[in-house]
Amino acid sequence: MLKETVKFVANAIIAEKNHLTMLDTKIGDGDHGLNMARGATAVLEAIEELDDNDLNAGVLCNAVGQAIIMNVGGAAGPLYGTGFVEASKTLDENSNLDAETLAKFFETAIAGIQRRGHAKKGDKTMLDTLIPIYESLQADKTKDKSIDEVLDDALTAAREGVEFTKTIAAKRGRASYIGERSIGFEDPGAVSSMIIFRTFCQFLKDNKLV
Ligand SMILES: Nc1ncnc2c1ncn2[C@@H]1O[C@H](COP(=O)(O)OP(=O)(O)OP(=O)(O)O)[C@@H](O)[C@H]1O
Ligand SMILES: [Mg+2]
Repeated sequence: MLKETVKFVANAIIAEKNHLTMLDTKIGDGDHGLNMARGATAVLEAIEELDDNDLNAGVLCNAVGQAIIMNVGGAAGPLYGTGFVEASKTLDENSNLDAETLAKFFETAIAGIQRRGHAKKGDKTMLDTLIPIYESLQADKTKDKSIDEVLDDALTAAREGVEFTKTIAAKRGRASYIGERSIGFEDPGAVSSMIIFRTFCQFLKDNKLV
């Protein structure tokens, strides 16, 4: 099921190519959908090469990140790639799908993205989706909840993060060149992060894995 999860998410990103590009046309240079679809296609090719016998979530996630780093230019590609490569180190053959594992994954991905891109919450970037997801996964918020509820709440946090990006001016990336005029528009990277997480959750539910 590991490879199927990645395939499902990658195909969803390819299907959203025009949507993501349209969003980036409004506040950036109109290539986010193209970049993400290129990355997703590279990911689909890379995972076909992986040996099923010694596959685990960490190996898979590392391959995803490396494929993105090697094939996607621009800002988002290297940032997503770094996030996946860094976060892959938190996963191995013993990883379970629980709030603690997810929290560690997001914490490490976010740290990698921030080390490279120096953005913080409120700068109108992908981090405005990823950080709220991470915050919703903290032990005090997830105790007594099923993993199903944990994912629902994390997805709500991601959607709220995207909505929040409409209310703020961009401080990082190309969108920062238009400053206040970026207010009123969703950040493309915040939307792509939400789509990745939403389709990941959907795959788990559709296949009764949570
Ligand atoms: N420093 C950063 N930290 C985190 N995310 C960033 C940063 N800079 C840009 N992004 C994200 O990348 C997205 C744009 O990615 P895209 O694929 O369009 O690459 P790009 O056109 O080179 O980027 P940009 O125009 O932002 O420099 C933005 O919507 C934002 O979410
Ligand atoms: Mg762009």
